Amino acid sequence: MPNMPSMYEELLRLKSLAGEELAAISQVGELELFRVKYLGRKGEFTFVLRQLGQAPPEERPRLGQLANEIKQELEIAFAEREARLIEADAGTIKVTLDLTLPGRTIPFGKLHPVTQVMDAVCAIFEGLGFAVAEGPDVEVDFYNFEALNIPAHHPARAMHDTFYISDSLLLRTHTSPMQARIMEKEQPPLRVIAPGKVYRCDSDITHTPMFHQVEGFLVDRHISFADLKGVLSVFITRMFAQDTPIRFRPSFFPFTEPSAEVDIGCVLCGGKGCRVCKHTGWLEILGAGMIDPEVFKKVGYDPEEYSGFAFGLGIERIAMLKYGITDIRLFYENDLRFLSQF
Ligand code: DAH
Repeated sequence: MPNMPSMYEELLRLKSLAGEELAAISQVGELELFRVKYLGRKGEFTFVLRQLGQAPPEERPRLGQLANEIKQELEIAFAEREARLIEADAGTIKVTLDLTLPGRTIPFGKLHPVTQVMDAVCAIFEGLGFAVAEGPDVEVDFYNFEALNIPAHHPARAMHDTFYISDSLLLRTHTSPMQARIMEKEQPPLRVIAPGKVYRCDSDITHTPMFHQVEGFLVDRHISFADLKGVLSVFITRMFAQDTPIRFRPSFFPFTEPSAEVDIGCVLCGGKGCRVCKHTGWLEILGAGMIDPEVFKKVGYDPEEYSGFAFGLGIERIAMLKYGITDIRLFYENDLRFLSQF
C-alpha cells in the first residue's frame, strides 16, 4: 500500500517521465500511444488517482490537486505537441509536392551491341544498292554444303563444327547457303546481303555456339576481283576509319575461286603489333572471293556469261574489334553493366 511521500514522489516521477516521452515524440502516429498510456481512462494518472483513497485523509486534497494539475499541464503540453507535429507534417507534404522538381527520368533500353553493329553493316551495304534477304536457321544439307561445292565427306566440312538435326537437316553453319537459295530463284543482276544467326559447336573466348554473320554477293556480267576490292574497301573505310589499311590475302573456300581473306590494320595497336593481332599488325575481318563456277552450275547460271563475288563476315568479330572487346561471351551474358556501355 503506497504511503503519502511515495505517492507524492510517484506523481512527480510520472510528470517528468511523461514530459520526456512527450518531447521525444516525432511522428503524429506516436501521439495516440502516449495519450492512452498517460491520459486515458486506464492511463497512469487515473491509476494513481484511484489509489488516492489509501492516502491519509488530510493529505488527500493536496495529492488530488497535484495530480489534477499535472494531468492538466500534460494535456496542454500534449495538445501543443500534437499541433506542432501536424504542422510539421503538413510542411513535409508541401515539400513532396514541389511541382518545380524535374520529372523522374525513365531509363530507356538500348539495342544490343550485336544488333547495333549488324544494323550498321547492313546500312553500309544498303547504301551501295544491296538488297537484304533472310533465310532459315534450320537448313538442309544441300544449301549449307552441297550447293556450295562442299560434297559429303569433303574435308572442308571439318572446318564447320556442325550441329546436325538429322542426316539432311542441320543448323546452318554460315549464311552462305543464302547465295544458293537466292540464285536458284532469281536471275542476275543480283546484289544481295543476307544477315542472320549461324551455329557451330564451338565455345571459347573467341567462339560462341551461336553467332551472327552477314553474307553478301553480287552477280552480273563482267564482274571482276576489282569490283570485290572496291566494294569491300568502301565497306571497311565506312565501318572503321577512313584511313584503315586493308590487305587481301590468298585463301581457300570451296565456293569461291580465287578466294581471299581480308585483313585490316590492327585497330588496337595501329599496326605496331600487340596481343590481339598476335604481333602481326593485321586483323582478319572477312572471307571473300569470286563465286566458283561450280556454284553457278548448281543454280543453273552459265559461268561463261556471268561472274560475281561473294563475302562473309562475322558480326561479333567486327563488334569486338570496333569496341576492343576481348571475350566474345560477354555479348551473351546479359550483364547490363556491359550492355549499357554501347
Ligand atoms: N562462309 C564462310 C564462313 O563462314 C565465310 C565466307 C567466305 C563467305 C568467303 C563467303 C566467301 O561468301 O566468299 O567461314
